[in-house]
Parts: sequence; structure tokens; C-alpha cells
Amino acid sequence: MKAAVLVARAVFPEVLEKLAAHFELSTNQPDAVWTQAQLISQLQGKQGVLTTGSERVDAALLAACPALKICANMAVGFNNFDLDAMSAAGVLGSNTPDVLTDTTADFGFALLLATARRMAEAEHFLRAGLWSRWRYDMFAGAEVHGSTLGILGMGRIGQGIARRAAHGFGMQVIYHNRSRLDAATESACAARWVSKTELLQSCDHLMLVLPYSPQAHHAVGAPELAQMKPTATLVNIARGGIVDDAALAAALRQGTIAAAGLDVFEGEPRVHPDLLALSNVVLTPHIASATLSTRRAMADLAADNLIRFLVHGQAVTPLNPQILNGAASA
Ligand code: GLV
Repeated sequence: MKAAVLVARAVFPEVLEKLAAHFELSTNQPDAVWTQAQLISQLQGKQGVLTTGSERVDAALLAACPALKICANMAVGFNNFDLDAMSAAGVLGSNTPDVLTDTTADFGFALLLATARRMAEAEHFLRAGLWSRWRYDMFAGAEVHGSTLGILGMGRIGQGIARRAAHGFGMQVIYHNRSRLDAATESACAARWVSKTELLQSCDHLMLVLPYSPQAHHAVGAPELAQMKPTATLVNIARGGIVDDAALAAALRQGTIAAAGLDVFEGEPRVHPDLLALSNVVLTPHIASATLSTRRAMADLAADNLIRFLVHGQAVTPLNPQILNGAASA
């Protein structure tokens, strides 16, 4: 008998076709916004679900959906999963690492360049018809090449950014991470480990690439911003909640730092109104992995996890692999 699977959000039709060959499939191609109660109702009798970072899987949902065996997240981040509750309930979680690393690192760099070189502000000025003549200091920004890049969080994406910075832009790269990279990886990234204080104080540009966890909540708030150079740029492509957005808006307004590029926000898709009111911030709607080929690869990998687990009792990129030992295929 085919297992029942819900694809909770709109995805590529060809990925649905692949899943439909293996499962009784329910979908949400209109991309309707479901409440948590509606998601739970849609999940009744389903053994698997393909989620994005927007669907919350917690103890209450797991208790209300006893048939559920796997949640395959179409994202590398999985802070929408209560992984301990999933493990306790015997539910496998999977994510989509690797396939988005370079695309996301490219975007981090694009956001850094756009922010430091004031591209959004300059474009708005031009579109508003305000450009009457060249001026020596018009939209003069901060130098990127040859400057010092600080990276907070140094996983696969952080390392991709470090390589671009060191080898493409001749930047000095310093990083802070709970665990230090081995010497060979540090050398490939041309990156040097420093304390968080040194990172904040020394960098010209700070890139946040750490995963969200309760310990990382407001890892950059008013005290951290106060340690940065007044000329510094902050880029957040990690997760909302890692930066205290209200404190950041105040810092940008007061000139504590010069500019910020943000792809993620506390409570997104809402954006703090104080950030919206500022010109020295570049804002994008959580699109760091958004190229068609990468989003397709992410959807494929999430689908492959569902197929591999529910059909073969294995998984490609499991988050709590201990579940596999006790897993029964459908
Ligand atoms: C996007 O934010 C992801 O975690 O893949």
C-alpha cells in the first residue's frame, strides 16, 4: 500500500510527479496559508510531509498527527522543527544541505556588495528622478576589496563566503564559531579564528551565517553593535532572531554602524517598521537560495528523503539518524 504524503506548500510540478509515483499525494499548489490547526487537519493519516521553513513541527502537532513518520524540510535550516520532540515521537527530520551552499554564498556576497556600495539607495535616487549631475561624493560607500570580513558561524556557507572574499576580493577573513575549523580548512578559506569580541571590533564587514538556536537568539544586539566600527556593514543571511532588529534599526539611525543588508527578519514576513524607514539598509525577502536550479535541487532532495525513508527505510540527509535504526518502512 502506498504511504500518504502531504506537500504543505507549492513546489515544482515535476517534483510532485516524482512523489506521486510512490505516494498517495496531497498538495497545496495554490500555496494557501494554513493556520497550525489547518496544517494539523491536512496531516491526518499522513506518514510524510514536505515542509518549508515556514511550517512549525512541534510536540503539539506531533501528538495530533500520530501517523506521521517523516518531515522533510526544503531548507538547510530547521529551526521550525522541534527535533527533540520529533526524536521522542519517533519521527525523522531531514533538511537540504550542500545543494544550496554556493548559491547562498553568492547571495551573501551580493548583499554585502549592494550594502557597502549603497546600490539600493542609489537606485531609488535615480528612479525618483533626483539625479541631475555627477558629484565627487555621491553615494560614496565602503571599500570591499582589501577590507576585513568577519564571519560569525563558519559552516559550509560561511566557508563559501570566506573563499569568495579571500580569493576573489583579496579580503582578510576572520571568523568566530563555537568550534574552530581544522588547519587545512582554515587554510583553504584563508580564514583566521578570533574571539567574538575581536571579530566585532576588527571587521569592516560582518556576515552572519550561523544557524538559529535559542542560544543564538539576539547574538547581535545593542552591546555587540556598540563594539563595531562606525563605518562597518552588517549582513544577515542566517535567520531572523539572530539580530535584535529593533536594536539594529537604532544603531543604523544613530550611526553606531554604517549600513546593513538583511535577507531575514524577526517575525518575517513582517519587517520592523524602523528598518523600513531607513535608507542605509538593503532589504530582501529571504531569497538567498533562490535560483531556479538550486530551489529545484532543494525540492528534489526533500522528495528523495521522503521516498528513501518511506519506501526503503533509509534517508539521504537525516537530522536525527537514530530514528532510522528503529524505522519500519510503510
Ligand atoms: C533557507 O533559509 C534555508 O535554511 O534553506
